[in-house]
Amino acid sequence: MSFDVDVIRAQFPILSREINGYPLTYLDNAASAQKPQAVIDALTAQMSGAYANVHRGLHTMANETTDAYEGARAKVAAFLGAPKPRNIVFTKGASEAINLVAYGLSHLISEGDEIIVTQMEHHSNIVPWHFLRERHGAILKFVPVLDNGALDLDTLKSMLSSRTKIVSITHMSNVLGTINPIKEIAPWVKATGAFFMADGSQAAVHLPVNVNDLGVDYYCMTGHKLYGPTGIGALYGTTAALEKLAPYNGGGEMIEDVYETHVSYADPPHKFEAGTPPILEAIGLGAAIDWYRQYNPAEVHQHEMAVYHHALDGLRGINSFRLIGEAPEKGSVLSFNLEGAHAHDVAQILDKYGIAVRAGQHCTQPLMVRFGVHSTARASFGIYNTLDEAERLVEGVKKAAHFLS
Ligand code: ALA
Repeated sequence: MSFDVDVIRAQFPILSREINGYPLTYLDNAASAQKPQAVIDALTAQMSGAYANVHRGLHTMANETTDAYEGARAKVAAFLGAPKPRNIVFTKGASEAINLVAYGLSHLISEGDEIIVTQMEHHSNIVPWHFLRERHGAILKFVPVLDNGALDLDTLKSMLSSRTKIVSITHMSNVLGTINPIKEIAPWVKATGAFFMADGSQAAVHLPVNVNDLGVDYYCMTGHKLYGPTGIGALYGTTAALEKLAPYNGGGEMIEDVYETHVSYADPPHKFEAGTPPILEAIGLGAAIDWYRQYNPAEVHQHEMAVYHHALDGLRGINSFRLIGEAPEKGSVLSFNLEGAHAHDVAQILDKYGIAVRAGQHCTQPLMVRFGVHSTARASFGIYNTLDEAERLVEGVKKAAHFLS
């Protein structure tokens, strides 16, 4: 479908809302994105037309719901370029996917083994690895970030060794917008024999992703940033990498047989989906993917970057404006501070004009320390944002700069 931002906006009922008497300018997409009517309708249709538990019944609606749930898995697999639906595990989000991998690989981790992440990771790609440091004596290392927000690839290369067991890197930073060269890094990691994971929480929404081409063992994404529901995400793993994982949650449907003396497990992906899964959420994610895939990802990226640059050009005219994150390869995330002002105050003033941005540490404390800031304000642009909205942001930040100077 050709890209027309007005036609896209008209599909999001919430975008006609007013906040404090101003039209909503929603620029907090990196935190969570709004939902198109197609996703709302898909959830309603499933709940009102065919709903039952999955994989358990022999009745018609159980079969229909199972087909819809497994159909959503096939949509995620196609979206990420995974070879088969069975390479996709449904999780509650990207955080749970990373926790699953960290826990699942823990039986292979011994004292002194090294796990490498970067200074630009979200806490969800740091804390699960700290668990392995605390519980198994692993050594957690952080690849530095350069002043412009790019990853220090030379140092990353020098950190890899036969001691490296897992490398986990964000594909796109939620603060800097930096797009990391996952495909270039993959062979360096594979040469050490380590597992390689990429966190696609942001990238899957803004870039075409093909996990096969990237050469990762594991990749994760989340539904609610991709215009889908909350409570659903996905872990991709190669067949070999999924087979290495110990199960994370125990319960119904993840087993083959259960006896008083022992238990055997189902094959992946079901081995990692204990209990009643997030059925409606998965179906909603499938609907979001169908909706999103109508558009050409290159056109979406080009549009989002045009809005980003329009905002940045205007903001650069404000004396106290400081951009954080200027890597040559970056997506539509604009983190900034006004010198002498707290990011929370900036966000609160913007909210008075109906402009929603996030302010704080963005779950990236090591990155805040790296850049010597306590927090930042962050505008993050999605498929439905417009050049007019970029101008509203600039005008709002000018007012904030004036009030707070
Ligand atoms: N990870 C989300 C963000 O960066 C919540 O805002």
